[in-house]
Amino acid sequence: MQHFRSNIFNPVSATKADFLADHVLSFDGEKIHSIIPFRDFTGAWEDYRQYIMLPGLIDLHVHLSQYRIRGLYEPDLLPWLKRNVFPEEMRSSEPSFARRLSQDFYRALLKFGTTFSVIYTAPYRQAAEIAFEVAREMGIRAKIGMTMMDMNAPEGLLQSTDYALKHSIELSEIWDNPFLGYIFTPRFAPSCSEALMRETGKYAAKHHSFIQTHLSENLDEIAWVKEIFGRSSYTKVYADFGILGPRTILGHAIHLSETELDLLKNSGSAIAHCPDSNFYLKSGEYPLNLISDKGIPFALGSDVGAGTTLNMLYHAKQMNFRQSTSPVLPPQMLYHITLGSAKILGLQDRIGSLNADKDADFILLKPPQGFDIGGHSLSQICFMSEDFEISRVFVQGQDMTVKS
Ligand code: GUN
Ligand code: FE
Repeated sequence: MQHFRSNIFNPVSATKADFLADHVLSFDGEKIHSIIPFRDFTGAWEDYRQYIMLPGLIDLHVHLSQYRIRGLYEPDLLPWLKRNVFPEEMRSSEPSFARRLSQDFYRALLKFGTTFSVIYTAPYRQAAEIAFEVAREMGIRAKIGMTMMDMNAPEGLLQSTDYALKHSIELSEIWDNPFLGYIFTPRFAPSCSEALMRETGKYAAKHHSFIQTHLSENLDEIAWVKEIFGRSSYTKVYADFGILGPRTILGHAIHLSETELDLLKNSGSAIAHCPDSNFYLKSGEYPLNLISDKGIPFALGSDVGAGTTLNMLYHAKQMNFRQSTSPVLPPQMLYHITLGSAKILGLQDRIGSLNADKDADFILLKPPQGFDIGGHSLSQICFMSEDFEISRVFVQGQDMTVKS
């Protein structure tokens, strides 16, 4: 058993985070045994009194294959995909490239304290397989999917409908653990045929599998979807083809009508909100209040490579900064990179907050020299994360700290 004496911020809801000053978190193997005030503790302990402990962070939407093209600017979604993303994703057809990329990517996730992520890989079975294998070797926990594209993709990335389905299904049969498992990944409606979407939706519903895709990110994209599929809205395309449901995660979801919000709400789908990406590509402002008022679950994604960093605390700040009029408070910022995300994944009994019997996934942050630690610290962590060093990272009780 190990005993860490520290100061803990623990997310409770979108409006509440507990501050546990001078507590001892005891963990035994993979699990948290107890969290108690130091004054009630007897025995030996490790001293992290000058640190702040948070649960491990969660990234709900990230493209592994785009890690190396962060910051290569092109101010609009469709040209950015064509000029920067597609050529880069082709490089992952080379296994040695895909392996090295996966290693660098996972190392960077850990460096920023992300202990669970939901990942798109390049549209090659082998690249997805390598992403899983390297994750297993490194002790990374994630949902991972091979991006599917059976139309409107350049030669070299374009899959046949059969290839996309067959390999996705086979990978989902092999990788079926909730902590390292498959997520069906039709890229977005413009690059997926009706047949591919329908078959994916049907299979995923039958097997209770997760699905991820992109929805209503950009106005040109939306017009294109309506033109291709002749539906009244982008959301209607996914609704008609069986893509929506309680295990579906939709990236972006910025430009939505009332009817579309109702479709999403009634389906139980969740949204991965990617504020950094949305302003980088000038896609638009996320209708946070509309979506919250509807009760549609959402949490934050880095959306690397349109997002510029894997640092989820930075994305929490962007969640605030990218609302032009409504303030977003620190407990909400924390919730949407921890417990809120875990709930969307159905993993809230294991990860997302720190409680007895949950997994010992936590990080220790060191404040800048001379800063006082107290209930006010969460605000400073959320708004100036660059100044807090992520000193230790634990996953299931294992020390996964990246030595730089
Ligand atoms: N829409 C379809 N593919 C992508 C992608 O790779 N990134 C983003 N941000 N949007 C997309
Ligand atoms: Fe994305």
